[in-house]
Amino acid sequence: MTPEIHDLCKFLDASPVNFHAVAELERRLRAAGFEALDMADRWALRPGDRRYVTKNGSALFAFVVGRKPAADEGFHIIAAHSDSPCFRVKPNAEILCDGGIVKLNTEVYGGPILYTWFDRPLSLAGRVMLRGTAPLRPETRLVRFEMPLLTIPHLAIHFNRGVNEGNPLSKQKDMLPVLGAIGPGESHQGLLRRMVASKLGIKDENDILDYDLSLYDTTPACTTGMNGEFVTSGRLDDLSMVHAALTALLATAETPSGATRVMAIFDNEETGSGTKQGAGSPMLAHILRRIAAAQGCDEEDYLRGVARSFMISADNAHGVHPNYAEKQDPTNHPYLGGGPCIKINANCKYMTDADSAAVFRALCERAGAACQDFVNHSDVAGGSTLGNILTSQIPLRGVDMGAPVWAMHSARETASCSDHIATTRVFKEFFSL
Ligand code: CO
Repeated sequence: MTPEIHDLCKFLDASPVNFHAVAELERRLRAAGFEALDMADRWALRPGDRRYVTKNGSALFAFVVGRKPAADEGFHIIAAHSDSPCFRVKPNAEILCDGGIVKLNTEVYGGPILYTWFDRPLSLAGRVMLRGTAPLRPETRLVRFEMPLLTIPHLAIHFNRGVNEGNPLSKQKDMLPVLGAIGPGESHQGLLRRMVASKLGIKDENDILDYDLSLYDTTPACTTGMNGEFVTSGRLDDLSMVHAALTALLATAETPSGATRVMAIFDNEETGSGTKQGAGSPMLAHILRRIAAAQGCDEEDYLRGVARSFMISADNAHGVHPNYAEKQDPTNHPYLGGGPCIKINANCKYMTDADSAAVFRALCERAGAACQDFVNHSDVAGGSTLGNILTSQIPLRGVDMGAPVWAMHSARETASCSDHIATTRVFKEFFSL
């Protein structure tokens, strides 16, 4: 395994859910000299300063202040998302079944391929809110039960002989995970709260006011293929693009640049981006405006900066599937190992146009990376992503792209190691402009 892919796997394993992905980003940024800024404080920035801001603990925006004010050189932005489809624990989740078996009530987050979550060693991770010094200031703690804790057992084939001929699933009935078995006299009520309290060393479980807990697969990321040419893991969409953006930002942080480099990692892409920490919010616009203001730019100068800016919206694409080549567009067959894909859609689900695609192709040329085109088969409805949602907040010039994957939104997706390395190289070229 190359050092780049080893580091990607470490990043994926450290990031079971969005909150932990952001905490891991913070840890790596701080180690590289980036300092936290608070949206509630006044900002003073000098050229070359490395700073980051988080939102809700699940979105993160890191930047290196350019040598020139925004009006002269603008912003170079790479956007990606921290969230992935999963199952979130509902309030009052414990359900007692025959024999003291306790299962958890959950709600589906985003659009996972449901049956890929069966019969896996699952665990729980997320954030816990503790009673703070004032009602508006609860204390946040991250929690992660490292050990396999849960499983969603599939129904035996003997109870459904038609299971391999198609098996519709109910999110409420079929997908509830088993947490364990309790003994006589033990109560299932508040079990999860007691487990969280004990895991975090909290003496009075009533100090836990609320939590966001999600299921994750404990199986670590690894390479596969006879030459180790693929990487397989949960959450490659979109943490592989987050990792490529971070690697490029850290590698170029010392390189002098007139433009301000920005890495924007949003939450809630998988549910439509419509939250304060999602791409539909004005969060990034506020940050860019405040960077410009700290550089002495007025509103007109800021808008001049926006006009000089460029964004890469990085979210994975679909590589042609060896068993389903017919699902792909007839003349565009992006494959795993063929390089990053430019994502193109006539109805503007992607922000790419010929102008921004030309920019990305030129960057790939500079990086010595091959580049592929992804368009949907015209009879297949495609997904959408961050780019066109962001442009409703800031009219940025930019491109939608992503490394191709198989099995997008499966509990385990597969990508190509060489595509990841190539994507990182292209991002470094962009941040070196
Ligand atoms: Co995605």
